[in-house]
Amino acid sequence: MPGITLTRFLIDQQYQTQAVSSDLRLLVEVVARAIKAISVNVGKGALAGVLGEAGTGNVQGEAQKKLDVIANEILLEANEWGGHLAAMASEEMDDPHAIPHRYPKGEFLLLFDPLDGSSNIDVNVSVGTIFSVLRCPDGVSLPTEKDFLQPGTKQVCAGFAVFGPSTVLVLTLGNGVHAFTLDREMGSFVLTQANIRIPEDTQEFAINMSNMRFWEPPVKRYVDELLAGKTGVRGKDFNMRWVASMVADVYRILQRGGIFMYPRDLKDPKKPGRLRLMYEANPMAFIVEQAGGAASTGRERILDLQPTELHQRVAVVLGSKNEVERVASYHSA
Ligand code: F6P
Repeated sequence: MPGITLTRFLIDQQYQTQAVSSDLRLLVEVVARAIKAISVNVGKGALAGVLGEAGTGNVQGEAQKKLDVIANEILLEANEWGGHLAAMASEEMDDPHAIPHRYPKGEFLLLFDPLDGSSNIDVNVSVGTIFSVLRCPDGVSLPTEKDFLQPGTKQVCAGFAVFGPSTVLVLTLGNGVHAFTLDREMGSFVLTQANIRIPEDTQEFAINMSNMRFWEPPVKRYVDELLAGKTGVRGKDFNMRWVASMVADVYRILQRGGIFMYPRDLKDPKKPGRLRLMYEANPMAFIVEQAGGAASTGRERILDLQPTELHQRVAVVLGSKNEVERVASYHSA
């Protein structure tokens, strides 16, 4: 029996569960098509001359890779003309991107990190695309930054792709988390895992240990206890993994549990964390919660945060519920 394609899945969602409107269905299909194009470019690597620096910087002051710029262009071009969007925002652009006047406008706002984990591009390690969908506020026809500043609880859809040995698209429309694998011969995403659940407990953690000396005491206490293993208060050994691509680390957690942390630290006191709230932390938090996990800054639930800036950074602790709750309890102790 042929697999369930993303198109078929979305149509089932539209007619059976009413979880998707036809505009949202179109949006997800268009984003998935862009993700296929990004996957092709990532997969060609040095053959297509797409590796290396672009010679430009983004709003975060980070050097852009050629593939950051290519992935951003692909997403912009794909999503401009379909009539499903009011505006877009990207990690790679200072300000929101308006839909050109010549195209119809829609009711949604799309935010994305076109290529997450870009330090891994040139070394042939998994990278990915993250996206989040919000509704454009009523009565707004030319959205500005403030129209994007909605808490993560307002997301209607979120997803990410991992460009690894296979290309996988993970999606939530607010009723569970589903994974689709790209069938490269057919060019379609096929449902390979429905209703993913993250185990509540874990013996695996992910954190950049080189930042240890900058951590706040609750994080230091938590990781010290994990490292003590069987001989410490946890009474069991823990394993560590750090891909340095959030997409790959979160995908692993969806598959077998775990905790991922990029906590607030004292390395650069101006930055309340490394990851970006609107197009990294919020979509991942939505997905993780939909899969039965938890996502916190250590102090608050990520999805409840009221954003103040499009490119704001935030501390992230997410994954297996009992571990995330333990880290949060150390912050309030
Ligand atoms: O910018 C985001 C990101 O690349 C994440 O995908 C990843 O988890 C993190 O940064 C890696 O950070 P570091 O370079 O400190 O390991």
